Amino acid sequence: GPIYVLNGPNLNLLGLREPEIYGHDTLDDIAGMLEDRARELGLEIDLRQSNHEGHLVDWLHEAQARRAKAVLLNAGAFTHSSIAIHDAIKAVTTPVIEVHLSNPHRREEFRHISYVGRAAKGTIAGFGAQSYMLALEAAARF
Ligand code: DQA
Repeated sequence: GPIYVLNGPNLNLLGLREPEIYGHDTLDDIAGMLEDRARELGLEIDLRQSNHEGHLVDWLHEAQARRAKAVLLNAGAFTHSSIAIHDAIKAVTTPVIEVHLSNPHRREEFRHISYVGRAAKGTIAGFGAQSYMLALEAAARF
């Protein structure tokens, strides 16, 4: 199945939002880069964004139902708060890769806990838009 690329709160503002931390690429720019590389790899991308926690839970369930090859998940700030997303990752057999543009460990204390990371197969963080590309390369080898 496809590779789901799920994005959480405020990532719709990527490119405009704190560009010194998150860079100037928009989520559409990242979607374009992922699609180009996915095409080369013979993979299909399904990229979505929501500011609502439950949508991310629903989409994790959907990824499993659609037999997604993997989920790349940037849960934004829900990373640090959402036991529901943690449990959804545990509930599905689809491999989930945690993705962050920034390196949360270099930032505020409240970003040092990741409920996503405690359930995910692995994490790629700190490489800006390239974090998504590296996660795609990892997923391609699953
Ligand atoms: C983020 C890091 C989170 O701490 C933050 O709340 C975000 C973006 C990242 O991609 O670096 O919204 O997930």
